[in-house]
Amino acid sequence: MREISVGSVNDFQDPGRKIVGFENFEVGVFKLDGEFYAYLNHCPHMGGPVCQGKMIAKVEEVLAEDKTSKGMAFSKTKLQIVCPWHAYEFDIRTGIHPGNPRARLRKVKVAVVDGEVVIAVPDAREAAPALQED
Ligand code: FES
Repeated sequence: MREISVGSVNDFQDPGRKIVGFENFEVGVFKLDGEFYAYLNHCPHMGGPVCQGKMIAKVEEVLAEDKTSKGMAFSKTKLQIVCPWHAYEFDIRTGIHPGNPRARLRKVKVAVVDGEVVIAVPDAREAAPALQED
């Protein structure tokens, strides 16, 4: 594994992201509410460039006190990434699909070190990205 700086903390909009390319894979690095999250840019559905999709608020059902529906609304706290190929959505904070917790993005270790955003990626000689998973 090697640690790579992908820029200063201040280089990222919030919310915002960067896509970083390596020898045979890409990583999407996201900033959301001052925190960083990183995932392999490879959708678990069919391999699309998921991290390049639109970032939109999660659509949630609003319930009245008696649990009847008051309709749908955009979440004020949850932001999702939408895969540009077939529109699967994933929570940016967890990488998990809201309707199927088994469908999840592959996490990449990310940290802030001395004001730089640093991700851990496999060495070039390693055959496949051995990225961190929960
Ligand atoms: S490849 Fe991402 S939704 Fe199908």
